[in-house]
Amino acid sequence: MRIDVITIFPEYLQPLRAALLGKAIERGLISLDVHDLRDWTHDVHRAVDDAPYGGGPGMVMKPQVWGEALDAVAPRTESDEHGTEHGTGRRPRLVVPTPAGRPFTQRCAQEYAAEEHLIFACGRYEGIDQRVIDDAARRMPVDEVSIGDYVLVGGEAAVLVIVEAFARLLPGVLGNPSSAAQDSFSTALDGLLEGPSYTRPEVWRDLAVPDVLLSGNHALVDRWRRDQALVRTFHRRPDLVDRLPEEALDERDRAL
Ligand code: ADE
Repeated sequence: MRIDVITIFPEYLQPLRAALLGKAIERGLISLDVHDLRDWTHDVHRAVDDAPYGGGPGMVMKPQVWGEALDAVAPRTESDEHGTEHGTGRRPRLVVPTPAGRPFTQRCAQEYAAEEHLIFACGRYEGIDQRVIDDAARRMPVDEVSIGDYVLVGGEAAVLVIVEAFARLLPGVLGNPSSAAQDSFSTALDGLLEGPSYTRPEVWRDLAVPDVLLSGNHALVDRWRRDQALVRTFHRRPDLVDRLPEEALDERDRAL
């Protein structure tokens, strides 16, 4: 998979080259290019922002600089100019992190893991001139996504979160692929939160591992894990329980 990130702080994306993702890059599973938006400025100040039309606080990122950057990273094709569908080559998907975007979820992570090429556009200040997004949407799919109901200083930290979420789903990135299959929000768990985990020793600071986990009875262990997932989700995320499809709950679940 190819990933391009456009930002005014390329050094902010360095953590993507560490640990598990760094290994995936080294092994050629992911190719990552981080671009400095200012490379596409033409003035001595290398300005990327300007005052907002209509007044108000803050600055808006300029469309010309972003337009040139996106044209360079996702070159226009013949068919873009003529509005026709082009051959078999898939278009890149542009992802623009913004607190005003659609919520980024595990489902989005799964969708992104199936893409061939993703481009991330990191906004700062009050955001990017909307015409940049509208223009890009004329030639590629564009997602404006939010990683949560809070406001960050810019999109860079959101890109770290989003890339980490989908990259671990790519074949070969995780040592043990079944760990992703059993995650919180996974289909295997019916979208529930994962319950608690324990390792040795059996007793630590007077706290004992639940007996059932030492029983060796796999059916009982599975039932216990299911109960824990349900109880935890009910307490912490009742909204997820409400969204459970009727058929996801068996009689025991309902009795809980
Ligand atoms: N940029 C600033 N805040 C953000 C958020 N919550 N999600 C994604 N991008 C952002």
